[in-house]
Amino acid sequence: MEKPSASSAIPCVIAHRGASGHAPENTLAALRKAAELGAIWVEFDVMLSRDGWPVLMHDDDLARTTDGRGPLAEMSLSQLRELDVGRWFSKVFAGERIPTLKEALAALAELGLGANIEIKPTPGRETETGHTVAAYLAEAWPSNLPQPLLSSFSREALAAARGVAETAPRALLVNRVPSDWHARLIELDCGALHCNHRFLKREKAAEVQEAGYSLRCYTVNSAARARMLFDWGVDGVFTDYPDRLRSFV
Ligand code: G3P
Ligand code: MG
Repeated sequence: MEKPSASSAIPCVIAHRGASGHAPENTLAALRKAAELGAIWVEFDVMLSRDGWPVLMHDDDLARTTDGRGPLAEMSLSQLRELDVGRWFSKVFAGERIPTLKEALAALAELGLGANIEIKPTPGRETETGHTVAAYLAEAWPSNLPQPLLSSFSREALAAARGVAETAPRALLVNRVPSDWHARLIELDCGALHCNHRFLKREKAAEVQEAGYSLRCYTVNSAARARMLFDWGVDGVFTDYPDRLRSFV
């Protein structure tokens, strides 16, 4: 089996939303769990509170992963901090709070974890979110860690991030690899494409690789599937269970 590119400092296994198979996603507990399970990098999602604070959250709506409800974008940071983001997963995690990006960076620095930070704008706030997150990272990224990788499904957010942090490595997120993937990466000056492994074909993986871009896949929770993707030349996978893919690290 070909090992993914050694030229990149980014490892071939990245814990998705922290170790989200073992701890509530996008929490400090999930970041800690990822480090405990041997992950070197984590991915997490960042969106903005009503008052513009970057916080870790995947869904626009609070209902699935908190004891609140309604759109996150309508809540201030202080309102968001009242919510419990652990109990839905297990009562063991009751009392976990939505982390701010600042708290997440402090945890990464303490744990020595690298990160792919996914810019996840709520609808209508694409440029603001890309700009805010990239500007904050440019200022506050811990000096003991490798440079972070920024990614987004939103072209507007990526363009805004580029505007404030031109040299920060960036990846475009897609579900299926579109036919115009190359033009999109050129337009946004991205060095990597992140796609859903379910729709990836071997030929498409080769096409991306041959054009000189990094290719990573989400969300891969089986070692057999990871092995197949690495055989296709995929550079990395996002997994909820970094422990299952430990043999690749
Ligand atoms: O960044 C990889 C993956 O997290 C993208 O999808 O929906 O899990 O944020 P999602
Ligand atoms: Mg994500």
